Amino acid sequence: MDSSATLTTSKIIVAIDGYSSCGKSTLAKQIAKEKGYIYVDTGAMYRAIALYSIRNKIISDAHFDEQKLIESLPEIKVSFSYNPTLNASETYLDGENIEKEIRGIAVSNQVSKVAQIKEVRAKLVEVQRELGKAKGLVMDGRDIGSVVFPNAELKIFMTADHNVRAQRRFDELQAKGDNIPFEDVLENITKRDNDDTSRSENPLIQAEDAIVIDNSEITQDEQLKIALDYVNEKLTVA
Ligand code: DC
Repeated sequence: MDSSATLTTSKIIVAIDGYSSCGKSTLAKQIAKEKGYIYVDTGAMYRAIALYSIRNKIISDAHFDEQKLIESLPEIKVSFSYNPTLNASETYLDGENIEKEIRGIAVSNQVSKVAQIKEVRAKLVEVQRELGKAKGLVMDGRDIGSVVFPNAELKIFMTADHNVRAQRRFDELQAKGDNIPFEDVLENITKRDNDDTSRSENPLIQAEDAIVIDNSEITQDEQLKIALDYVNEKLTVA
């Protein structure tokens, strides 16, 4: 190889978007670990705002005071802190570690309503762009390649057959002792796909320049290899 013709750029932004339960965060964390990059889970930010809204009686199954949420936004402080024991970054709301609570069913049931609010998205997109200033970042979500970082060096759009996704989620829940019927898991995935793609504010779309990884029939190791080949190609400019 003619090394004089090869330059290595220092750091890039990897934007990962895709459907729910496609393994976006698994891949994003693996890439971040391999490259020594920061991983940012933007879904956790929307979940933190949903938790704040539940706690402050702004949202419930039957009620949503959008105006109150918009007025409260300047007070809501969402941050991340790296936990070396877990080798992962955890989400904080006003200084409280909320990592476990935001993954629960109460938050999952309300978060897509919160994610539809234009002002919520504007606030979080601003925070996300700030985090990307120094590059060296892997960020996953729904609008990262399309809105947050339209100039990201690498955009990955992840997808998988919805039956395969439902089966993986079903197996995970069973392993945790949660005996939800398969049909309910499938229905939930279909509903979330619909919410994500049909909302008017920054819906889930595949950016034109994104590479698509369909992991219906490949292993996590195969998926990681494909992604890392793309990352390394972007890091090496001729
Ligand atoms: O990835 P997740 O399931 O933790 O996302 C939680 C919710 O937030 C889900 O309803 C999609 C929404 N979301 C979004 O609208 N935009 C993002 N960039 C990330 C998540």
